[in-house]
Amino acid sequence: MPDSLSITDNRTGKTIEVSVDGHGAFPASELKKLGLLSFDQPLLATATARSAITFIDGEAGILRYRGYPIEQLAEKTSFLEVAYLLAYGELPTAAQRSVFEAAVLGAQVDTARIRKHVESFPAGSHPMSVLISGYAALGAAHQEAKAAVHDGEARKAALPTQLAETLQLGAYAIAASIGGTTGATSGATFAEQFLRTSGVGAEQLEVFARALEVLFILHADHELNAGTNAMRAIGSAETDAYHSLAGASAALYGPLHGGANEAVLKMLAKIGDVKNVPDFIEHVKHRDEKLMGFGHRVYKNFDPRATVIKSVVDEVLAVSGPDPLLGVAQELEKIALEDEYFVSRKLYPNVDFYSGIAYKAIGFQPAAFTVLFAVPRTIGWLSHYDEMMAGEFKITRPAQVYIGSDERSVPANRG
Ligand code: CMC
Repeated sequence: MPDSLSITDNRTGKTIEVSVDGHGAFPASELKKLGLLSFDQPLLATATARSAITFIDGEAGILRYRGYPIEQLAEKTSFLEVAYLLAYGELPTAAQRSVFEAAVLGAQVDTARIRKHVESFPAGSHPMSVLISGYAALGAAHQEAKAAVHDGEARKAALPTQLAETLQLGAYAIAASIGGTTGATSGATFAEQFLRTSGVGAEQLEVFARALEVLFILHADHELNAGTNAMRAIGSAETDAYHSLAGASAALYGPLHGGANEAVLKMLAKIGDVKNVPDFIEHVKHRDEKLMGFGHRVYKNFDPRATVIKSVVDEVLAVSGPDPLLGVAQELEKIALEDEYFVSRKLYPNVDFYSGIAYKAIGFQPAAFTVLFAVPRTIGWLSHYDEMMAGEFKITRPAQVYIGSDERSVPANRG
C-alpha cells in the first residue's frame, strides 16, 4: 500500500494525493491545493515540530526523555544530569557531569539585578508574575542572546547561566512572596541550592532536597504542551531565548496547565474533609466545578509522573508529619476512579494532583507551586528552542477562518 492519502473534495470532485510519513503525518499545507484549511484550534491533530527530545505514549502511560523511561531517571539520576540529557541528547559522563554541575551551581550571575527586579514588586504579588517578567528583565541584560538565536554554540554556552539565573529568580520570587529574605546560594545539587536560596525546607534539607530533585526531573520536559508550544511559536519569530521564556512561562501559569498544582491545593483546602468529597464530586459532574489535577490531553490511562510523585509524597510526609489533605486527595481519587463520569472520559490524576502535597510538606506555600514547575521546565523549553533553531522552520503563523462582517462604509453621520 502506498504511503499516501487521497483526499477528495466532494464539492468539486477534485482529488489530491499527499504523502504520509512513517509517523502518520502528512503535510497539511497540501490542503491549500483544494482551497481548504484544517480547523484545529486546540491543535489536537496538528503536529508543529519533529522533535527527538521527549516521547509520550498517552494510552500506555509512557514518558521518556531521549529514550530513557522517566521512572529510571527519577530513581537513578540528578536534575542536572537530566538537564544535560535534554539539552545534549546523552547522559553526561562523570567528567561532563562535574563540569556541567560546576558551571551551573557556580555560575557568575548578576544577583543584584535579579534581587532588584524581585524587590520592585509590591508585597502580595504572585511569584509567577515576578518570574515571567524576570525573564524579560534578564533578556534586557543579555543583548548577546539576540546573536545566539542563530549560533548553536552560543546557545549551548548560555545554558548553565540561564539555569543558574532561573534558580535565583524562582527562589527569590518565592522567598519574597512569603516576606522572606534571600539566603545562601550554595548547594550540592540544583534542588538543594534552590531550597537554600528560597529559605525553605531547612529542617530536613537532605530528604527535601532529594524529593525536590525528583519533582524537578519529572517536570523537566513534556514535549509539546501549551508552554513549550508558546516557546517554539515565539522563537519562530527569531525572538531571543529569554523573551521566549517569558512567553512560555506565561502559558504555564494558566490553571489548565502548570497553574493546576496551586489550584489543586486550594480545591483540597476548600473541600476540607473526607466527608465532603461525595458532594464535591456531584458538583463536578454537574459542571459547577472542575476536578483540578485530573485529566490530560495526552494521557488517557494514567500519568506516569503522578505514580512517581505518590512515592515522593510518602517520603516527605514521613519526615514532615501527616497531612489531612492527603486523605481528601486519596478519597477524591478513589471515588473518581470508580465513577462513570470520570471513567468514560478517561480522566485520571495528572502530575499536578499530588505534587502540591509534596511541595506543601517541604514548606512551600501554594503560590510557589507553579514556580516550582516553571524552574525545571526551563531546560525543556530551552532544549526545544535550541532544537528548533538548529533545524529548518518558518514563523508560526496560523490561518484563521474569518467570520466577521463583509466590507462596509463608515456612515457619514454617526450622530
Ligand atoms: N474535571 C471534570 N471534567 C473534566 C476534567 C476535570 N478535570 N477534565 C476534563 N473533563 C471533561 C470535560 O468537561 C469533557 O467532558 P465532555 O466531553 O462531557 O464535554 C471531557 O472531560 C474531555 O475534556 P477536554 O476538556 O476535552 O480535554 P482537554 O484535552 O481539552 O483538556 C485538560 C485537558 C488537562 C485541560 C483538562 O482535563 C483539565 O482542565 N483538567 C483540569 C486542570 C488540570 O489538572 N491541568 C493540568 C494538566 S497536566 C499538567 C500540565 O499540563 O501542566
